Amino acid sequence: MKSELYKLQKAVKSIRKITDFEPEVCIVLGSGLGSLADYVDNPIVIPYGKIKYMPISTTSSHEGKLYFGILGNTKVMLYKGRVHMYEGYSVEEVVRPIRLAGMLGAKKLILTNSAGGINRDYKVGDVVLIKDFISSFVPSPHKGDIRRQIGSKLEFFDMTKVYSDDTYDTYDKIKEIGKIHGILFKEGVYLQVTGAQYETPAEIKFYERAGADLVGMSTVVEVIAGRHMNMEICAMSTVTNMAAGITGETLSHDEVKREGEIVAKKLGLVLIDLLK
Ligand code: HPA
Repeated sequence: MKSELYKLQKAVKSIRKITDFEPEVCIVLGSGLGSLADYVDNPIVIPYGKIKYMPISTTSSHEGKLYFGILGNTKVMLYKGRVHMYEGYSVEEVVRPIRLAGMLGAKKLILTNSAGGINRDYKVGDVVLIKDFISSFVPSPHKGDIRRQIGSKLEFFDMTKVYSDDTYDTYDKIKEIGKIHGILFKEGVYLQVTGAQYETPAEIKFYERAGADLVGMSTVVEVIAGRHMNMEICAMSTVTNMAAGITGETLSHDEVKREGEIVAKKLGLVLIDLLK
């Protein structure tokens, strides 16, 4: 069986055959947020299928294209669509795009997702800056030989400071820019589950007591991989629905997609201003 390092190196090679673009920032767009990619100037667009060992999104709201280009004066690579463990992918496959970004030279990572709101102060349509994470319900990508082969090469690393002080400065900037665009950013703790079923009310009660403000099916494993790649990380969720049992309403993927698309337009303007 081929090693994870071999697969990553092959993926880098297939991108380098197409472009020598050196991204500063990597952005991952979550479900419903794909339209942000439209803001990239003169993009080089690579379908995931053209990249060796790149996992392909199978979810209807995740297109599966990698963009390289300029967004708000910054050289970015932007993943339009991510893959999830619920699609049948391993955790290594799920974080492969993040490790790839680090290997291509990206120093910063902006992660977006849609999430269920657990915190009762949230409402549908809110954007929440994620200030901490709970990874306890998903497998860690930080295992095996790859730990010593890429990034910091640390077998064990600290997660007390997921973010550098720069990230908190960035969050302050995002809040300021948000005010200009009429978006009030909230803050919260995000908990990742594997899905794909949405949670039961009892599970949400449990996560609420555990300190979670948001629940979703992505991002935390990417944060772990990004830390290992020494990337400076910032992450945000759009609240597409209130989590199970909070309002008593049932959950549907169509609702999640629709709400994500509405917020994405505004969020796009904020991110462009930030990258400027
Ligand atoms: N639960 C899990 N993942 C989600 C949700 C949710 O309520 N909403 C959007 N992604």
